[in-house]
Amino acid sequence: MGEGAVVGIDLGTTYSVCAIVENGRPRVISDTGGSFTIPSIVAVDDKGNRLVGQAAKRQSMINPINTIYGSKRLVGRDIHSPIIDEIQDHFKYRIAEGDQDDVRIRLRKEDYALEEIQAMILDHIRNTAQDMLGREITKAVVTVPAYFNDRQRHAVREAGRVAQMEVLRIINEPTAAALAYGYGKGLKQTIVVYDFGGGTFDISVLELRDNVFEVKATGGNTFLGGVDFDNKLAGHVIAEFKQAHNIDLARDPMSHQRVTDACEKAKIDLSTMNEARINIPYIAQGPEGPLNLDMTIKRDQFEEMIGPLVDKAMEITAKVVRESKLGKDQIEQVLLVGGSTRIPLVAKKVAEFFGKPPSKGVHPDEAVALGAAIMADALVNRESDIQLLDVLPINLAIALPNGRTMPIFDRNTSVPNQKMKVFTTSKDNQDSLKVQLVQGDSEKVDECEPIGEFVFRGIHPAAKGKARVEMVFTINSEGLLSLSARDPDTGVEQSGVLTVSDTVQKTYHQDLIQPKKPVEKKEAQKVITRTVTQEKKLKAAEAPTPKPVPSSPSAPNASARKGTPAPAQKAAAPPPRPAKPAKPARPAGKGLFARIRGWFQKKKT
Ligand SMILES: Nc1ncnc2c1ncn2[C@@H]1O[C@H](COP(=O)(O)OP(=O)(O)OP(=O)(O)O)[C@@H](O)[C@H]1O
Ligand SMILES: [Mg+2]
Repeated sequence: MGEGAVVGIDLGTTYSVCAIVENGRPRVISDTGGSFTIPSIVAVDDKGNRLVGQAAKRQSMINPINTIYGSKRLVGRDIHSPIIDEIQDHFKYRIAEGDQDDVRIRLRKEDYALEEIQAMILDHIRNTAQDMLGREITKAVVTVPAYFNDRQRHAVREAGRVAQMEVLRIINEPTAAALAYGYGKGLKQTIVVYDFGGGTFDISVLELRDNVFEVKATGGNTFLGGVDFDNKLAGHVIAEFKQAHNIDLARDPMSHQRVTDACEKAKIDLSTMNEARINIPYIAQGPEGPLNLDMTIKRDQFEEMIGPLVDKAMEITAKVVRESKLGKDQIEQVLLVGGSTRIPLVAKKVAEFFGKPPSKGVHPDEAVALGAAIMADALVNRESDIQLLDVLPINLAIALPNGRTMPIFDRNTSVPNQKMKVFTTSKDNQDSLKVQLVQGDSEKVDECEPIGEFVFRGIHPAAKGKARVEMVFTINSEGLLSLSARDPDTGVEQSGVLTVSDTVQKTYHQDLIQPKKPVEKKEAQKVITRTVTQEKKLKAAEAPTPKPVPSSPSAPNASARKGTPAPAQKAAAPPPRPAKPAKPARPAGKGLFARIRGWFQKKKT
């Protein structure tokens, strides 16, 4: 075994892909069977063995209750999210409640956190790639949907930690695809990446200037993808069968799984053929013996079923293009990424919308992993000659007691970024202040996703409205939020700044990641760390919610992209600024940064 390898991993909802840069060329790593995609499926069989990837997929039809599909959709979700019910309508595995309102999945008799499920997939991808490379993989860049919120991003980072993988950086899937398309080509182009995968839809508008990849706007839906098309078709097939035989195939997990699998195959056939046959022998037992399912679906019938879902994606597309402030005629290339873009109706709608045929410049299944590999290689071997300038996908706000939100960062704000807000107290001698953070496009708290909470303890005694708390909200280049707070009158500052979304203390299975031969370095490590070391969730019920100080202006947006020195951009190392800065400098941000630097210096001394 030689030196450790660095790879890019596209951790997909349905399929995952791993890629590497070798001799300056990115390539996808196949498994020993020659397949370039790894099913993102985890199962526990009747003997208690944990299975991942192809092995899990192979047994899924006979073990649907203990086989987890599409787990990425549950990552970073709250157990009370309406999404849970929707998942349960289509997938047969059992969802359990964790002790912190988090989602767990029950496999046989044990409950697994979503971070563990994702860690098992990451570990399997690593082992598969190691077998092919004959080298240990030590580091990776992992991709996430652009539309992932803070909590989901944290969960993916945590999965990397559980898998004992050094995640150099997480990057957005469309941005990675843009990298695969444009890196090293010296392009000056405005492009759209339209990424319709198995579970999520993402769209980003980017400007490419040599090796600077600047996202102008992004949007998406983490609940819109190929599995929804499969489910639509399966719903139709099940309804037809019920009408003919008065048997509900959805009631039997095995039959339901067989129908869904056959529908995915039929959907794929319909991308190249005008009709597809769904033929499943012995699907149920009728009064006169076993029944077969035999149905033909025409392409226009299928298109009618999925039309509203494709339209949903096109509505998001129109909104994102509008928010990019670019005309459609300014968009030079439209890249189609993700397996669902092979559906002719999808490609047709995209072409109609942009008034031009989409580009064939990238491979729809491989582009994201290749882009991640290029980024990983750049971070480790080329002193980061790439500059990724991404944006926040969803508004980030504070939940106010009246049920409304107070915006902190609007969607499409460039990242990294930093803002300060000043709050005051609402009671005499109030000594703590709690902020609850949410992400969503609505101004109503209950229509947004809760992200976490932050409590500042250490306000000096004062009459209500007299004390002040300065809170600094920082989003790093991965779109992850951290917070710090300070009482300017006493200089007391909250330490251990990050309490958002990582605050849940979870325990993980001790034997989750097995050391794998022949990577000797790992053999010594029988067990990995599984306990999150972050602070326990703050029980902050007693801490009153903040009252903004109307007269205290929040600090100006200190965007890295806008020229002001921004918080360290490094996932590993900060990319050098491009030769031609994108935007003129914004000196207005300097004051805040100087002050923050001052605080830290003061703290150190
Ligand atoms: N020829 C085809 N026609 C229609 N759909 C296809 C075709 N090939 C693959 N798909 C579908 O594409 C989806 C997988 O795409 P992809 O691998 O890009 O998604 P993913 O990375 O798993 O998901 P996501 O990016 O949403 O997390 C599956 O739903 C699969 O059925
Ligand atoms: Mg994908």
